Amino acid sequence: MRVLLRFFSGTGNTRLCASFLAKAFQNAGHEVDLVEQNVPVDVSTYDLIGFGYPIHAFNAPKTFVNQIKALPKAAKDYFFFKVSGEPFPINNSSSVTLARILKQKGYRKVGEKHFLMPYNIVFRYKDPVMKQMYLYLPALCQAFVEDLLSGKAETIRYGPSRIMTFLFKIEWIAPFCNAPLVSFRPKKCTRCMKCLKNCPQQAIYLNKKDKLKIHPTKCAMCMRCTLNCPVDAIRFGIMNPWKVNGDYGYAKLEKDAFVNPDYINANTKGYFKLFNKYFDRQRALLKAHKIPDPIESHLAK
Ligand SMILES: Cc1cc2nc3c(=O)[nH]c(=O)nc-3n(C[C@H](O)[C@H](O)[C@H](O)COP(=O)(O)O)c2cc1C
Repeated sequence: MRVLLRFFSGTGNTRLCASFLAKAFQNAGHEVDLVEQNVPVDVSTYDLIGFGYPIHAFNAPKTFVNQIKALPKAAKDYFFFKVSGEPFPINNSSSVTLARILKQKGYRKVGEKHFLMPYNIVFRYKDPVMKQMYLYLPALCQAFVEDLLSGKAETIRYGPSRIMTFLFKIEWIAPFCNAPLVSFRPKKCTRCMKCLKNCPQQAIYLNKKDKLKIHPTKCAMCMRCTLNCPVDAIRFGIMNPWKVNGDYGYAKLEKDAFVNPDYINANTKGYFKLFNKYFDRQRALLKAHKIPDPIESHLAK
């Protein structure tokens, strides 16, 4: 089978998820192409397509919706993999618009999975939480791919979360309003141009006065520039209080024996206690697939 993983990723979590899904398909003997948003691709040559995106305000990012709209009509099987910072059902129907468009074009949904990964907005997750989410990801991708290949993959019931998805479509105009308010603080900025070079939307440019600016209709508010700025020089307009700066550092966290990834468990208190339901479901899924618990395996090393 030829599998296409077509995705948008701001700060790398969806890309990471796509790469673990790709590995799982490849291990089962399938051919996989990972193609990021905005890179042209001919979908007609694939047997199965995975569409992946980070959830933005209970929706898919507008830029990703536009890419789906541009797809040709085709009788293809597809699945969604979506990544977000909190596991609550309020995020369930983020793909409702995409699913409607794809159905109209003749595509058939065969699965849908929500993967929990750290926030790139609001606040930075603690290191043990990030490590826990990161360690779970490959195992969950493996289980999802096994289910897709056996035709038994989970789908998500959208339910009442449709209301939130509908109301928060207002977020689609937020980048347009926010971009003119973004400033690249000259006293801090070293003009390394990392933000300009890496923007997935090519939304950052130098104006006639040689100042960095963000194009309002191109920006997807994906937070790649703010997360990765080495000197935290970007004031991100009205979103600035919610800015998270600094790479997740998964590779370092994985090696760091002092960061205990068994953070969210039955004894967890506070906000992350609410994440237990998600992890309980994922543990049950892994058990059903006879995939070792990634936290137990990690701690046993
Ligand atoms: C503008 C914006 C809105 C977001 N809205 C949500 C949300 O509604 N629910 C949620 O759980 N996470 C939300 N997030 C967090 C991202 O989904 C999460 O950090 C994800 O891991 C990012 O994936 P990426 O690295 O592939 O961009 C939002 C992030 C941004 C930038």
